[in-house]
Amino acid sequence: MPPQPTLAGTVNRPGRSFSLESAAFVRLANQIRPFLRKWTITVADRLHPRRIRISSALLLAVCLLAVSAARGQQPAWLRYAPLPQTSQAAWAKIPPAIVNLDSSPTAASAQAEMLRGVRSVLARTLRIESQLPDEDAFVLATPAELRAAFPHYDPPALGPEGFTLATFFSRGHTYWLIDGADSRGILYGAFHLLLGMARGENFAAMQGPDSPAAPIRWTDEWDNLNGTIERGYGGRSIFFDSGQVRADLTRAADYARLLASLGINGCAINNVNADPHLLTPEMIPEIARIADAFRPWGVRLALAVDLSAPQTIGGLDTFDPGDPKVAAWWRAKADALYAAIPDFAGFVVKADSEGQPGPSKYGRSPAVAANVLAAALAPHGGVVMYRAFVYNHHLDWHDAKADRARAAYDIFHPLDGQFAPNVVVQIKNGPIDFQVREPVSPLFAGLRQTNTAVELQVTQEYMGQQHQLVYLPAQWQTYLDFDLHAIPNRATPLKSIVEGRVFHRPLGGFIGVTCVGLDDNWLGSDMALANLYGFGRLAWNPNTSADTIARDWTQLTFNANPAVVSTITRVLMSSWPMVERYTGPLGLQTLTNITGSHYGPAPQSQENNGWGQWIRADHTGVGMDRTDSKYGGDGTGFIGQYPPQVAALYESLATCPDNLLLFMHHVPYTYRLHSGETVIQTIYNLHYQGAEQAADLVTQWQSLRGLIDPEPYNATLTMLEYQAGEAIVWRDAITRWFHQLSGIPDAQGRVDHYPNRITAAQMQLQGYTPVDVHPWETASGGKAYVCENRDLCTASATVTRPAGWYTVAVEYFDYRDGVSTFDLLLNRQTIATWSAANNLPGNAPDGDTSSRFTLRGVPLRPGDVLTIQGHPNGGEPAPIDYLSIEPEPNAAAGNSQP
Ligand code: GCU
Repeated sequence: MPPQPTLAGTVNRPGRSFSLESAAFVRLANQIRPFLRKWTITVADRLHPRRIRISSALLLAVCLLAVSAARGQQPAWLRYAPLPQTSQAAWAKIPPAIVNLDSSPTAASAQAEMLRGVRSVLARTLRIESQLPDEDAFVLATPAELRAAFPHYDPPALGPEGFTLATFFSRGHTYWLIDGADSRGILYGAFHLLLGMARGENFAAMQGPDSPAAPIRWTDEWDNLNGTIERGYGGRSIFFDSGQVRADLTRAADYARLLASLGINGCAINNVNADPHLLTPEMIPEIARIADAFRPWGVRLALAVDLSAPQTIGGLDTFDPGDPKVAAWWRAKADALYAAIPDFAGFVVKADSEGQPGPSKYGRSPAVAANVLAAALAPHGGVVMYRAFVYNHHLDWHDAKADRARAAYDIFHPLDGQFAPNVVVQIKNGPIDFQVREPVSPLFAGLRQTNTAVELQVTQEYMGQQHQLVYLPAQWQTYLDFDLHAIPNRATPLKSIVEGRVFHRPLGGFIGVTCVGLDDNWLGSDMALANLYGFGRLAWNPNTSADTIARDWTQLTFNANPAVVSTITRVLMSSWPMVERYTGPLGLQTLTNITGSHYGPAPQSQENNGWGQWIRADHTGVGMDRTDSKYGGDGTGFIGQYPPQVAALYESLATCPDNLLLFMHHVPYTYRLHSGETVIQTIYNLHYQGAEQAADLVTQWQSLRGLIDPEPYNATLTMLEYQAGEAIVWRDAITRWFHQLSGIPDAQGRVDHYPNRITAAQMQLQGYTPVDVHPWETASGGKAYVCENRDLCTASATVTRPAGWYTVAVEYFDYRDGVSTFDLLLNRQTIATWSAANNLPGNAPDGDTSSRFTLRGVPLRPGDVLTIQGHPNGGEPAPIDYLSIEPEPNAAAGNSQP
């Protein structure tokens, strides 16, 4: 017999058992930060007399939990946890001293970091020497400085910003060299050594040269001057607030340190939808303060600029890049920037895109505009990152040949060879917009006399927005490794093109749109830090496998326990394919609300508008026909933008991979995939598989209980439990939608048939009233039930199932505003209480806000009554959808009938 739950005030939650009160406390603790954020706004509301029922003791406990739940700023992968005694032996001969022969601020940071890291990992304090000591020592230096100290030292060849770790014997001593090609190289070498040490590697294993794959390794932050962040999910800006640069830039400096530890050497600090005011004379000294905070860590500051700035803030009557006045304005602006920021990295440009002004206004090309900026920056060594994300978002949906995916190639390919040497065309990995899967942009193979960089998105805009776990290096690796066949008979994977190796380009690299914020964990979720870490690792060396990155990150972030490393690596590596299954399989792209939140399911938002993320789904078939007439196709011709070998792969239904089929072709729902299954049945199956996997991730995570620290354990458990519910929301919405459209039932009878559910419409309601849900498929029968103009509403159902143990779940809606609370009653007894306190992106009942509360181990008998009590708050009407009553496996065996 499984342990009997004591119904007198006990709630079983996965892996834990708490008294009713403590369970409520734990939930509150897990949700405490968004709760408090909202709570401060709605405090008056919460102290409404009826709410006092929560009792002042509970509020006090909430505050205490808030204190204990606040973990403080996360060190991320720079935790430098003490090495276990057994692994310390490998470092027994560590030198007692350190000398820095380089006078740069970056090398000074390297020395300080060595002290900090060695003390933390090995509990040893290095002695700082001002010149080469007559004893074993770490030596930080460039090759020239080392040759001056050791005339016999023969440094290996290094690329810029590279380093060599080596031992050198001289005067009877062993010197542990951190030989940096330049001052950044010294810093990167120090971090490499420390992070290896923290993972338990020994120095011998780390020795040898290492250089970055490409010169440009930047993050783009999309911060606004008012302190908000476009597509940022980790709190407010670390740079700006209320139109000003923050007085305290400690977080900016700490961020630069995190970036430097991965070898990232540049950071564009503001939204690509740029505010021209950043370039005003008053702002430049302020921005220089951010550059000062970055400088010790070798991170150069870049700015996104608005091409209309010469007119909007410069007072000119034009911003025509062909006008000499405009060129002179940009030259003067660059001079002023370099006077304040001598190592200014350059400009990022979004123009003629999504409403941003651009050269098309004057009939000029992107090359003309880019070159004007490039000419202004060139004397100072700056670069222009001109984004290829240029497209018309007023496309004609009725035009079968119109195709947003074509835009970047159509616009930029004819300009190849026209860009100045210090221009880099920054291209998103795929031709649309950071979808769950896209093909690699053909433009990478189309620009042969132009520098290119790949833009990847670290912030999970279309992939769960940090409310869900998605490990992106696994996705990026498929892009970076994809062979574009840009040169016949030679492998030309995307990574080798942006490294500059294929077309012999001097500049190129990797951009990660990151959007960190002031949250303790920078990105809004602990696990999302694996994506930033992974971006840095791939930007340094794109040949590193996503699996290795996951292992290293896990060791640095959690610990080296083999069960921890293998479980978390498995969880990470399976997450992207899983999310693809429930959000957009077969090349459909993320079927989210593309005109709104970019979060929950809303497949119809793809169609019937000018944005061009169309999937062309109708009652007979689905998919965009992007075939090309060159190859006998009749589609948009996008496929013809690829080199012939890739075009042939995609053009033919026989070879087009299933996972991109519907991106490339329009096929009937009954079309059979390589797997032998039909398209429609595969859509159904993959959604069900994805949701099952999401539930399984919870179980896998629970195996870590006690093996990692409790706070990160609980934080991720809460997220995965939410995600398992959200996967069901996606599954149901997308499968219902395709079912209705195609009219083809699920061969396994699951879609639109939920035997374990009791919808609110089927319950006895007091106060709850129906409202229409848009899109309809995100709630049962297209309706949610809301509690309006009342303090309390109830929905009850009488159990008709056989006696046994059940998992009871309540599907409710959790708006961004307001914190409704809910109680679940079994007969008259409250068996659970929770609050709708997640910070989800919506204020209406739909796929963005649909959420699930799950309670396992509930003993039910026929005739029992389950009641949901909803208490609205702050404009959130405690909305509900359905109750689910699922038999637990042992109940089915009939061995535990209560
Ligand atoms: C996406 C994103 C926008 C962003 C744009 C860009 O469309 O939703 O917020 O501005 O990409 O990359 O410029």
